[in-house]
Amino acid sequence: MCGIVAYIGPKQAYPIVLEGLKRLEYRGYDSAGISLINGGLKTIKKKGKVLELELAAKEVDISGTVGLGHTRWATHGEPNDMNAHPHNSGNGRLSLVHNGIIENYATLKKALEELGHEFISDTDTEVLVHLIEEYQKRDDLPLEEAVRKALEKAIGAYAIVVVDKDDPSKLVGARKSSPLVLGIGDDECFLASDASPIIKYTNKVIYLNDEEIVTLKRNGEYSIKTIDNKVQNPEIKELDLKLEELEKGGYEHFMLKEIYQQSQTIWESMRGRINANDGWVVVGGMSEYIPRLVNAKRIVIAACGTSWHAGLIAEYLFEELARIPTEVEYASEFRYRNPIIYNDDVIVALSQSGETADTLAALEMAKKKGALLYGIVNVVGSSIARLTHCGSYTHAGPEIGVASTKAFTSQLVVLTLMALDLGHRRGTISEGYFRQLLSALESIPKKVEKVLQLNDQIRFIAGEIKNAQNALYLGRGYNFPVALEGALKLKEISYIHAEGYPAAEMKHGPIALIDMYMPVVVIATNRSAYEKIVSNVQEVKARKGIVIAVVTEGDTVIKEMADFIIEIPETEEPLTPLLSSIPLQLLAYHIAVMRGCDVDQPRNLAKSVTVE
Ligand code: G6P
Repeated sequence: MCGIVAYIGPKQAYPIVLEGLKRLEYRGYDSAGISLINGGLKTIKKKGKVLELELAAKEVDISGTVGLGHTRWATHGEPNDMNAHPHNSGNGRLSLVHNGIIENYATLKKALEELGHEFISDTDTEVLVHLIEEYQKRDDLPLEEAVRKALEKAIGAYAIVVVDKDDPSKLVGARKSSPLVLGIGDDECFLASDASPIIKYTNKVIYLNDEEIVTLKRNGEYSIKTIDNKVQNPEIKELDLKLEELEKGGYEHFMLKEIYQQSQTIWESMRGRINANDGWVVVGGMSEYIPRLVNAKRIVIAACGTSWHAGLIAEYLFEELARIPTEVEYASEFRYRNPIIYNDDVIVALSQSGETADTLAALEMAKKKGALLYGIVNVVGSSIARLTHCGSYTHAGPEIGVASTKAFTSQLVVLTLMALDLGHRRGTISEGYFRQLLSALESIPKKVEKVLQLNDQIRFIAGEIKNAQNALYLGRGYNFPVALEGALKLKEISYIHAEGYPAAEMKHGPIALIDMYMPVVVIATNRSAYEKIVSNVQEVKARKGIVIAVVTEGDTVIKEMADFIIEIPETEEPLTPLLSSIPLQLLAYHIAVMRGCDVDQPRNLAKSVTVE
């Protein structure tokens, strides 16, 4: 959470930093700020979105060729102008932006106050800028050395950028557990939380590693050292990212664009990894570790949010197709409960961003215990991609809407391919069924196109239930996690309270909530346990609930009973989530739009949760 961007070079910094902040706004949007150096230090900070900052900046001089900016998701201190970043030193020389949490800020603050420093915000971040100031003043150190000394004292997570108005020839950045990318132009340099603010200017980047400090010079030169003062020469990477991928491309919202992209992105996730005609699956990331993966005694999936729901579906896939015992863990719980991890376990981390703090920490813990780490990640070069021993990219392209859609279905594709590959090698799936699933998987993108054609019908249903205060989502088997995901989509973007439940569990509690005002979304595409779902629908109808049923084309029984029906193409049962999740994304989207909600940037949320 929180996005940071900085520029040093011959151009005016303000438009570059401002545009960068707009691209990073998905990381947090409760306040934003910019500092510019132009003889003096000018800092503009505003509560609210980057647009508020832009309006405030119209009133002031925004010239300067060195600048840094921040868009915030509050941890310490409420979102207001004062707590917004950048934070400046007491002597007015330094300005700093920070993404992360300084855990020992209270101790540092007390010590600094005793030395006469005065704090004006409620943030943890402010201690860093005072600490750097203290080292700079006390030992007369150059900025990068003062930063290094200060960071030696800081416990926690940080990506920071600092500028000194008395030395405008440089910018200093550093990272630990929060991402920071260096962009290298001809005679200019950039720093940002991800590559999106940089790609317009250069495709040459370096992903900084933990505990590295970078000094950027005005002429495009840079130097990198570790916090213990060792010079680093990391490889420069070329970005494979196009600017259009970061635009809405004619859609009203990024979320809608990303829902619609799924016929393509699902294909991208399997491209080159599957051939149904010749009957093979190759998941490149697995190749170096085949014996360990095939002989794994257990797979443990660690993830958060929507990625955790993909993990739940993978539990069904790995156990059914590859017969490997699988557990799915909330990364935040897993890391703190002293779990038993054997060195023949495989830990699969699922993450769109590749930066989620709890998932990263869970992996670090499992790595120490000797497990093999496999990352399934969307963002290339992200921290999880680099920490894991092996893994696969999902190739869904940048996902900007805060509510995850296309990243989820792409994760499902990769997980299905892995389960198929493992099952085939372990002999736990017959050749016939293996080939049947391969061709069913290859035909999913076309079927997704058909599901997307239901958009108008789903919009109509959305209009009928948009004023509900609660909603229930029910599913069985592979569609139980889909119910959880459907409910999550609705609550995160429309603010309607929604719960997902295994359909049969409804009788053990949620049924008490059902009345004539309660929409109940039943995902009933299953062939197995179909009659049981029919009974569940009857139980809902008997209590006058409003049933919205997602069924397979040609369904007759549930169609008769439901108030609204969404018919999707038939596929093999393990693949149904790839289709059944999409109408639920559209339903949540239209309800949120009709309720006037900010679909791409829902309140209190952020896309990349880089704090615990
Ligand atoms: C946040 C996002 C979710 C996402 C979750 C996990 O809560 O709003 O959309 O599912 O983080 O993120 P990850 O990047 O690890 O998949």
